[in-house]
Amino acid sequence: MPEAGWRGDGPGEIIVCPNGPLLVRGDVDLVDADGAPVERRRATVAVCRCGASAIKPWCDGSHKLMPRDEP
Ligand code: FES
Repeated sequence: MPEAGWRGDGPGEIIVCPNGPLLVRGDVDLVDADGAPVERRRATVAVCRCGASAIKPWCDGSHKLMPRDEP
């Protein structure tokens, strides 16, 4: 099933979600800090960027509980 916003061709894309994860779609290699591949099991994955996830490097929704600087 095609994903909303994803063209399904060409390079992958990384979408920065406001106050949330990075959505990685398509042909994008993920590696850890040592350069080792990070296995993906889905075409689109949500990478935590808040540091609060219990399942790093993936987002588990914990960012919703983080205090925000914005009103
Ligand atoms: S961005 Fe969602 S838990 Fe960190």
